[in-house]
Amino acid sequence: MSKIKHVAIIMDGNGRWAQERKRPRIWGHIRGVSIVSDIVEVANNELKIDALTLYAFSTENWVRPVDEIKSLFFLLKKYISKEGKKIIQNNIRFKVIGSIDRLPLDTVNLIVDLENKTKSATGLKLNFAFDYGGRKEIVEAVNRRLVNNSILEKILPLSEEDITNNLFLSDVGDVDLLIRTGGDQRISNFLLWQLAYAELFFTHTKWPDFTTEEFKEIYKKVSTRERRFGDVSAGDNLNKNIEKARKDRETIEWGGQL
Ligand code: FPP
Repeated sequence: MSKIKHVAIIMDGNGRWAQERKRPRIWGHIRGVSIVSDIVEVANNELKIDALTLYAFSTENWVRPVDEIKSLFFLLKKYISKEGKKIIQNNIRFKVIGSIDRLPLDTVNLIVDLENKTKSATGLKLNFAFDYGGRKEIVEAVNRRLVNNSILEKILPLSEEDITNNLFLSDVGDVDLLIRTGGDQRISNFLLWQLAYAELFFTHTKWPDFTTEEFKEIYKKVSTRERRFGDVSAGDNLNKNIEKARKDRETIEWGGQL
């Protein structure tokens, strides 16, 4: 059985949760932040997974009302100010992926400071996707690879590795489990490259009602799923299978007729 090392979560349903309670949507986001702290703790201390990547704000979320956007900015700042110390004490490596260019300067400073203070941490790799889009990340990875090498004929065609190595989380690896709360069954432009062989789990629970118990339950349930990575029986590594498939294809091609 392959271990679930990288979990990604689309924390959906905050707005509906608040509206059902006749409250402004921001209520749902405020409650959502406290859930984040609980999930991070369980991921780091109990499940001991390698990486947790949370979708906090997408490149598409800019169309939301300005007040809601400002509130999400504020909540990110508040989360870092409140949880920063705990993150450092718990040996968690903190990173924001996406773009922080449009955040207020004091928030940018807090992010950069926490990233620097935790860059050598060896526990959970905690990533917040903020102003993040999966397609944008891939395009930027390709551009980074090309810009770093001016003599194009030496690097073209690009390989999968060229792209992987230029993503935001080049040292984190593929997502093993994607959880989306809130009832919708979509990927919503999240980690498109890294989700290639992820197990997907959709729950109707809205994010503010999501609990550590449900998180652990999902983790346990998905851990028993057979992951074949393209093979006919359970395997433990996509890259190993890609390499094996390449060699097998060469053997079959050179071996003549089947
Ligand atoms: C989707 O719910 C959620 C978001 C766009 C933001 C997720 C943010 C949080 C959980 C809190 C912020 C956390 C930090 C640390 C910044 P939605 O608003 O789309 O809900 P809906 O589908 O019911 O409308």
